[in-house]
This record gives sequence, structure tokens and C-alpha cells, in this order.
Amino acid sequence: MTILAVSNLSKSFGGLHALSDVSFTVAQGEIVGLIGPNGAGKSTLFSTLMGLHRPNGGAVELAGRPVAGRKPHVIAAMGMTKTFQNVSLFTESSVLDNVLIGGLLHSGVAEARAEAMACLRRVGLTDIADRAAGSLSFPERARVEVARALCTRPKLLLLDEVMAALNTAEMDDLLGLIRQLRGEGLTLLVVEHHMRAIMSVCDRVLVLNFGKLIADGSPADIARDPDVVRAYLGREYAE
Ligand SMILES: Nc1ncnc2c1ncn2[C@@H]1O[C@H](COP(=O)(O)OP(=O)(O)O)[C@@H](O)[C@H]1O
Ligand SMILES: [Mg+2]
Repeated sequence: MTILAVSNLSKSFGGLHALSDVSFTVAQGEIVGLIGPNGAGKSTLFSTLMGLHRPNGGAVELAGRPVAGRKPHVIAAMGMTKTFQNVSLFTESSVLDNVLIGGLLHSGVAEARAEAMACLRRVGLTDIADRAAGSLSFPERARVEVARALCTRPKLLLLDEVMAALNTAEMDDLLGLIRQLRGEGLTLLVVEHHMRAIMSVCDRVLVLNFGKLIADGSPADIARDPDVVRAYLGREYAE
């Protein structure tokens, strides 16, 4: 079943075409990677899907229902949530309070608090629920971001560079969490710079370059695609 269908989506900032006629689908249960050079439009795609930018054209359907033009909280309530590229936690507040914000989308505070604890359990952070978010390590912050997104009850989760500051071992742990979430029934669309991470966790990879989708295929096909190698991967990936 198709959970996300994006058709001819375009977004301009003044004269800059950040997204040009982007079309792709994501099937339920897939982990799909989204890669491309800096400034390619990856974060803009996520923000436009979430209703944070109004598209200049095109359509987005989530589980068959149109979402383009709706407000972000409505889209979140329909089952799509994203993390933010630069971690956006309230540093003075506790981990639990940061996560329960996600739950306020659909519940009162008491219920959101219980759900936040359940989400912290899913990401393996129950023991730090009372710590101030500003005191966390990078891998802990990444997991809190994911827990907060989970607290909105997504079917489709968009992760924007959650591994940015992680070392190899920490990245492997987070890849384990991504696989676990898929096992729990989630579908994931993942922006990441680390090619090893993308290639190991994704069923399929989309490649953006200057706002255009230049490839959509298996990790193995993407690594061999001459256009992708030229635009992004560099010669070391060409075999
Ligand atoms: N709010 C904005 N206003 C104007 N230009 C923007 C805005 N957001 C992104 N851009 C521009 O759109 C292009 C794509 O940016 P972005 O989506 O952040 O790329 P990526 O996430 O792939 O690095 C860049 O040229 C960026 O400068
Ligand atoms: Mg970005």
C-alpha cells in the first residue's frame, strides 16, 4: 500500500526553485533514504510535506488523503511528523516535558505524560526522563527528538539528519532504533549525509540535486548511477 504519494511538487523562494516537479511514492513499511548535496532541497521537501511551506504546485497524499495546503498540526494529526534538522529541544525543560509536547497534539497533559513515558521506553531513555534536555549527549538528544516525534503517533516519520553529530558506534545504535521502529509498523523517510548509514538501512534511496529528483532506486542501483556519482557521491563510489 502507498502511504505517501508526491506528484509534481514545486516550491520556490523568490526566483530560487528549491523543489522542481518532484514526484515519488513511499510504500507502507518502507525505509526510504533522501540524499543530495547541501542546498539540494531535502529540508525544504520535508517542510513542504509538513505544511510549513505552501507549495507553488503539485499534490501530496498521505494514505490516500490530500494534505497539500493543510496546516502542520492537521498534517501531524493525519499521521505524518518530522524532526527538525537542527535539534530544537527546550534545553531548560526535562526530557519528559520535551517529549510530551508531541502528545499534546491529541491528548491532555496527563495522558500525554503517560504516552511520553511510553515513547521514551521505545527509544530506550526512561532512565533520563527527569534530566534537563540541555544536559544530554548528542545521541541522547537525537533519541529525544525521535521520541517527541513518536509522541504525535505518526504512521510516517520524516527524520532530517538526526545522526549529524554522531560517531560511528552511536550511528549504528540509531540505525538499530530505525530498524526497530520499522518493525513496530512505522514507515520512515530519512535524510542523512552518511552514505554508509543510508546504504545499510534503506530499502530505497531518492536523490535530489538542485531541487530535482535525479534518481529513485535500490541502494545498490543508486551507488552505481552515473548521474548520482557525478552530482553527489564522487569517484570513490564509482566501481
Ligand atoms: N525559508 C527559505 N527562504 C529562502 N530560501 C530558502 C529557505 N529555505 C531554504 N532555502 C533555500 O532553498 C535551497 C534548499 O535548501 P534546503 O532545503 O535547506 O537544502 P538541504 O536540506 O538539501 O541542504 C537552498 O538554496 C536554500 O538556501
Ligand atoms: Mg537540510
